[in-house]
Amino acid sequence: MAKSSGQFAYLNGDFLPLEKCRVSPQDRGFLFGDGVYEVIPVFNGTPFKLEAHLNRLSQSLDQSRILNPMDAEQWQAMLTKLISYHPWPNQVVYLQVTRGTQMRRDHLPDPDLSPTLYAYASELKSVNSEWLAGGLSVVTLPDDRWQHCNIKAITLLPNILLKLQAQDQGADDAILYREDGLITEGTASNVFVVAGDQVSTPPLSDHLLAGVTRQVVIELAQACDLRVCEQLLTRRDLDDADEIWLTSSTKNALPVTQLNHQPVGNGQPGPIWQKLNTRFEQIKQAWPTSLTD
Ligand code: PDD
Repeated sequence: MAKSSGQFAYLNGDFLPLEKCRVSPQDRGFLFGDGVYEVIPVFNGTPFKLEAHLNRLSQSLDQSRILNPMDAEQWQAMLTKLISYHPWPNQVVYLQVTRGTQMRRDHLPDPDLSPTLYAYASELKSVNSEWLAGGLSVVTLPDDRWQHCNIKAITLLPNILLKLQAQDQGADDAILYREDGLITEGTASNVFVVAGDQVSTPPLSDHLLAGVTRQVVIELAQACDLRVCEQLLTRRDLDDADEIWLTSSTKNALPVTQLNHQPVGNGQPGPIWQKLNTRFEQIKQAWPTSLTD
């Protein structure tokens, strides 16, 4: 018998041990990658920035033409119960919604499908201390994904191939740029560039995900009296940067210290990142009382 992971999951209305969850192979998520997802960090037992995550989920569903199966209160109640099954104060919840199960294979979905809902929680461990101390090595790669990267789609093969390409080049990750030379994001993160006392990040568009951490970092930087600009960035801006950061719900803000195997700034995590990261840690530790929503 498989050893229990101690994890519980929510599947279509039921809470079950993770090992007991079963989804039909005819699910459109399995057959077509036809679905969307969310990743919600939980600090001290409380989801972080839940409203922003649920809004983004709604937008991903709307744009995928999948009916949102729950309202915000129902999502919140389900998540609260799922989190309560586990002893860890800090968790990460993955929430997956596919268009549903359809016995007859057809690209065109049946109009009356019920979405498949799946959510599971794991312990959110501290960010790798080597990355915090020494930073990440990143290469720049052409962004050859589709034109709807603002949808948090479960169809992640393009991102996976890019991450593998970065690994092939001996790097931890990639920062992506489009044919017009503009930086979009990381393979699973948003990008920030520091030049002097100015912090910049690409503006929201269909070519990147509206990261919840991106917005938190913008507000933290403003609260630290830094000038923050949402502006178009090129590879040249990366080359000239004093600091580069990648942000995501599972990693917060991580410093990039090597870009295409050359040092960023002096090759160490920069002072502005240090300041911001200290503030971010304080907010996490004091959550949910540290911010208003
Ligand atoms: N990924 N861009 C992409 C392509 C991402 O996959 C992610 C997050 C982000 C950052 O978004 P947020 O700050 O809301 O986590 C940007 C998550 C962590 C994942 O897929 O596991």
